[in-house]
Amino acid sequence: MFKRLLTIDKPIEIYFEDRLISAQQGDSVAAALLTTGVVAFRQIERSDEPRGPYCMIGNCFECLVEIDGKPNLQACQHRVQDGMKIRLQRGFTGGGDAS
Ligand code: FES
Repeated sequence: MFKRLLTIDKPIEIYFEDRLISAQQGDSVAAALLTTGVVAFRQIERSDEPRGPYCMIGNCFECLVEIDGKPNLQACQHRVQDGMKIRLQRGFTGGGDAS
C-alpha cells in the first residue's frame, strides 16, 4: 500500500470504476490511484491477470487504463483532471494514444 506523504491541499475529484476518489491537483493518474489503494490498473486479455504500474516513468506500459473513454493510456504519464473518469483496461484494445 502506498501512502501519500503530504496532505491534499488542492483537491479534485476523479472516478475509478465509478468510485469517487479525492486527488491532489497535479498528481499523475497512477499516483492518485496508488495512494487510494488501487493497484490493479489493467488485466491481461487471456488470463485476466491483474497488472499495475512498475516503472512510473513511461517505459513499461503496465499502467494502461481507460481515461474518459479513451483506452490504452499510461496512467503514470497523465495528470488528473477534475471529473476524470478512469476505468480498468482489459487487454490492449488498439487504436489508443500510448503517449
Ligand atoms: S508505470 Fe511503467 S509506463 Fe506507466
